[in-house]
Formats: sequence, structure tokens, C-alpha cells
Amino acid sequence: MLQGKNIAIFNIANRHSIAWKVAQAMDEQGAALILGYQNERMPSRVEKLAEELKQKPLALIPCDVSFPEQIDMLPEEIHERAGMLDGLVHSLAFAPREALENPFLFTEREHFLSTLEVSTFSLVALARALTPVFRDGASIVTLSYYGAEKVFPGYNVMGVAKAALEASVRYLAYDLGPAGVRVNAISAGPINTASARAVGGFLQMLALHEGKAPLKKSVAGRDVGNTAAFLVSDLASAITGETIYVDAGYSIMGI
Ligand SMILES: NC(=O)c1ccc[n+]([C@@H]2O[C@H](COP(=O)([O-])OP(=O)(O)OC[C@H]3O[C@@H](n4cnc5c(N)ncnc54)[C@H](O)[C@@H]3O)[C@@H](O)[C@H]2O)c1
Repeated sequence: MLQGKNIAIFNIANRHSIAWKVAQAMDEQGAALILGYQNERMPSRVEKLAEELKQKPLALIPCDVSFPEQIDMLPEEIHERAGMLDGLVHSLAFAPREALENPFLFTEREHFLSTLEVSTFSLVALARALTPVFRDGASIVTLSYYGAEKVFPGYNVMGVAKAALEASVRYLAYDLGPAGVRVNAISAGPINTASARAVGGFLQMLALHEGKAPLKKSVAGRDVGNTAAFLVSDLASAITGETIYVDAGYSIMGI
């Protein structure tokens, strides 16, 4: 499904990262991958994981999105090492612990801004920076959560960031549509990752999800990876600006 496609995935922290599950799914479909990681602590871990892929990645690239200069360097680095891009996966987010622990009402200004900078603006910044290296038909996928639409106590400012992320998807889809570039979000059900565990009451959320979702199961990272592979493939050639739920049906339930 993805033979001949170059896809950049930001960012992998460890083998539980959704970004890694996306990488595995896309590798299986024949994509050539550029794998991103946040900082110097992580390349050896990502290198080790990359050995498990069928195809050797085209490049491993550090990118901390809170440093604009690191985003600015990406197009040249990617072009040099991989050529043009057919896909970008944005699978990264961060909120300071206090902002997830205290009631939303007490969110500090600086915590609000840094959460939206890393978790939301980074999609806009990456899409803009990489526009010169996108091929016609390229596809951008980001990761959201139902906390963008409904209140999940403890998700707090991250819910606001995801609401803005989903709106950004629609505006980016409008701006990039004429260039043939599609932009979509996957709203994933809860998955046990390092970031997810930082959200207060996450394990309880996970248990509730399994009980309430029509499929009576939690979502695996690989379910999300497979949907991301579909969205960057030509099979999804007329889908843009959407938020696709990969949540075992949880979001359709009223009670
Ligand atoms: N796990 C879930 O339940 C779940 C559900 C829905 C959506 N998501 C979303 O999926 C995405 C990936 O999260 P995950 O659950 O795989 O957790 P994870 O902790 O494995 O991944 C988060 C990634 O964000 C990166 N990151 C954080 N700050 C960064 C910065 N300043 N610059 C660059 N990278 C930075 C981390 O290095 C890490 O690679 C996030 O957007 C998250 O909100 C997760």
C-alpha cells in the first residue's frame, strides 16, 4: 500500500509510543521512513527499535519543536537524506505536570502557552516548514483525543490543545488542498504510553473505556498505526480535514 512513499514520523520516545506503532504499520506496508526523536537522550533507543523494521530508515532526525530553529532545519535535512516527502505523522504532545494535576481553572498562563506551543502550534510549524518538500498527493496525520470535545477530568489544558489541533487540521486542509496535500487527525482511544500515564486517573479512564466502548476492548497502538497507514495511502485520496475516531466506538455512546 505504501511502496515508493517517503514518510516522516515525529516523535518516537520508546516502543510504547504511538509513533513507533505507526512506524511499524507503515514499514509493513513498504514505506521508507524518517524517524524523529525529541532529544539526545533518545537516539540510541530509536536506533535499536529501527533494527526491528524490515527496511532500514532513510534517516533518524532529532526535533524538539520548542526550538523553532530545529523545525527550520528539517526541510533541508530531509531533502538531503530522503528526497521529497509523501507523508508527515505528527504524534507528539506535552503538558506540564501541574497543568494536569490542578483543576483547569488554575492553569498558569505559561503552562497554557507551552502546552499549545508544543502540542498544537507544532503541527502548523511542521506543515509550513515541510511544504517545500511535500510531493503532490502528500498526507499529514496528527493524533488527537476525545478530550477535545468532552470533559475528561485531569485532561485539562490538553483538551484545549486537542480542540485547537482539530481546528488547525481543518484550516491546514483548506490551505494545503490546492497543492494536493491532505491533512487529517486520528482521535485515538486511550493507550497506555508514557504521555498517557501523566494524565491523572488514566488507568481508570482505560478501564471505563473497555466497559463502555461497543467493541468492549481498549485500542491498541497498532490499530492507530494501521489507520495512519491508510490515511497516508492513496486509498484515502479524497479524505481531508477530518478527525477519524479509532476508539472501538466509544465516542458514539450517549451512556
Ligand atoms: N496514549 C493515548 O492514550 C493517546 C490517545 C489519543 C491521542 N494521543 C496522542 O498521541 C500522541 C503521541 O503520544 P503517545 O501516547 O504515543 O506518548 P509518547 O510519550 O510515547 O509520545 C509523546 C512524544 O512527544 C514527544 N515530545 C514531547 N515534547 C516534545 C517537544 N517539545 N518536541 C518534540 N517532541 C516532543 C516525546 O518525545 C514523545 O516522543 C500525542 O499527541 C498524544 O496526545 C495519545
